[in-house]
Amino acid sequence: MVSYKELGLVNSRELFKKAMEGGYAIPGFNFNNMEQLQAIVSACVETKSPVILQVSSGARKYANQTLLRYMAQGAVEYAKELGYPIPIVLHLDHGNSFELCKSCIEYGFSSVMIDGSHLPYDENVELTKKVVDYAHQFDVTVEGELGVLAGIEDDVKAEHHTYTDPDEVVDFVSRTGVDSLAISIGTSHGAYKFKPEQCTRDEHGRLVPPPLRFDILKEVERRIPGFPIVLHGSSSVPQEYVDEINKYGGKLKDSIGIPEEQLREAAKSAVCKINIDSDGRLAMTAAVRRVLWTQPEEFDPRKYLGPARDELKKLYMHKTQNVLGSAGKA
Ligand code: G3H
Ligand code: 13P
Ligand code: ZN
Repeated sequence: MVSYKELGLVNSRELFKKAMEGGYAIPGFNFNNMEQLQAIVSACVETKSPVILQVSSGARKYANQTLLRYMAQGAVEYAKELGYPIPIVLHLDHGNSFELCKSCIEYGFSSVMIDGSHLPYDENVELTKKVVDYAHQFDVTVEGELGVLAGIEDDVKAEHHTYTDPDEVVDFVSRTGVDSLAISIGTSHGAYKFKPEQCTRDEHGRLVPPPLRFDILKEVERRIPGFPIVLHGSSSVPQEYVDEINKYGGKLKDSIGIPEEQLREAAKSAVCKINIDSDGRLAMTAAVRRVLWTQPEEFDPRKYLGPARDELKKLYMHKTQNVLGSAGKA
């Protein structure tokens, strides 16, 4: 067992308190390899933003649990070396069992999500409470979820949104003791968040998705004032990356994300954490495709992963500065 404190990591409690007071959101950026981690840390150090490094169960299997522990420790040391030691949280994204949450805590995670959103309500309460009771012994913070996001939540497939029911939030938060709550207000995972037929078109013919359900968010805030809310599925699917990917041999069609203005708006409310993974995947893929397509003689991975890392860093800096408002808050 290694405590996250020995690795120089922090839990999310203090960060969320400040984000709530300051009207911004902390980025939850997913990573599973070195280039992504370098880009996240250097972007957040340069913009002086706190950061939540997120690892999904799939990412944990991909990267290896032991390597991840040292990568997270490396991230803390790297930030110091870059000249500004930002607060770094190591967070399990979409934990699907008590055992996985426990194991992550033993490997140095400072925060875990237990996603029981697909379970019947009482089972979600029971599982979440069990994780909270264990995690809090080690001062590890816990994120729970109420409501199901459309699309694919890891193993959980939901065709339609089940928006969070504000009537349930007081009971859920008080019975489980969670530190933050992910809610469903119209975001979803991946690069295809809406079908074109759900959208209208702007004057340039671009697809405009239906707005997020700010009415539900407001009602949740009214029921649990000052409680940290989390938004999953918050990639914006920048058209320039989609165009670049398709220009260099990709086949992404009708991919649609959440407009950044709406995320900026949400970040000013009780939303203290905004999760972004797909935009990073798009940025990275666009850069790799560009290099491999335009310089087919290249076969040194650094020649395509280096530009991918640069593109990712640009993206993350943009998110902290212009979308989440977390820049300058570390
Ligand atoms: O919400 C899911 C995250 O984007 C992680 O995705 O399970 O493919 O690693 P993953
Ligand atoms: P995106 O797929 O919109 O990036 O969402 C990521 C996420 O919610 C990770 O938990
Ligand atoms: Zn998610």
